[in-house]
Amino acid sequence: MTSSPGNGAARAGEALLAVDGLTAGYGGGDILKGVSFSVARHEIMCIVGPNGSGKSTLLSTIVGILRPRRGQIAFQGESLIGLAPRQVLSKGMVMVPQAHSLFAGMTVRENVEMGAFTVGDSRVVRRRREEIEEMFPLVRERARDKAGSLSGGQQRLVELARSLMLDPSLIVLDEPSIGLDPPTRRSVFGMIRLMNQQGRTILLVEQNARAGLKLSTRGLVLENGKVRLSGTGREILEHPEISSLYLGGAVSSATPRS
Ligand SMILES: Nc1ncnc2c1ncn2[C@@H]1O[C@H](COP(=O)(O)OP(=O)(O)O)[C@@H](O)[C@H]1O
Ligand SMILES: [Mg+2]
Repeated sequence: MTSSPGNGAARAGEALLAVDGLTAGYGGGDILKGVSFSVARHEIMCIVGPNGSGKSTLLSTIVGILRPRRGQIAFQGESLIGLAPRQVLSKGMVMVPQAHSLFAGMTVRENVEMGAFTVGDSRVVRRRREEIEEMFPLVRERARDKAGSLSGGQQRLVELARSLMLDPSLIVLDEPSIGLDPPTRRSVFGMIRLMNQQGRTILLVEQNARAGLKLSTRGLVLENGKVRLSGTGREILEHPEISSLYLGGAVSSATPRS
């Protein structure tokens, strides 16, 4: 795997992703109500918040699946507003959705190679796939098995592997640890950390707020479509109100619905 992702020259200190005043919804009222934050290069940023607060909506809007009503999204200094998801992908931002997204009847290798669907050069596809198999032994060991025969945690690892095929500078992950037991979650988080150490910036949503914030350099609490708090992972973990609302303190009306 290349140590410096190919999309754009890295300029220290510049925000890789800048979201400003983002307002979006699905037809009725607004779900996101003026969300602003930025993600610096090389950081791991974790979004936490109750179920229904708009976390997935925010990610969908950033990657171009949902068009915002107002606000700006800039990636590497360029506006993404109006771009289709495929164009956003080609700029170097890849999302791994919350629901399992592998093609169960296809092999692990076929699934991983599909991650490079916009790369025309088959030699590039092959070289990247080999680098990824080096990094994810599971992908090599199970290359010829149907993706549907893998456990949930193994499938999540294959999804992470697949996300690397476009050599992204930003990887967006919606609840990567959902449904995983703690040891499997640790191995998924270990791979996220490794991808970050290789120079990729990570933006993730985590329902397991404590584990997600510990993994991350910075965090953001989204509540009812607004940024309630942002800061370092530690600042959020140690914030008294946040800790009682989301991190296993006092039970309240903000307890996740499901
Ligand atoms: N495709 C959709 N169409 C209409 N409403 C939606 C859709 N997806 C999510 N919502 C609504 O938007 C709100 C925020 O949902 P979501 O972004 O999924 O929250 P979170 O990821 O924080 O749990 C919820 O009220 C949800 O019911
Ligand atoms: Mg969600």
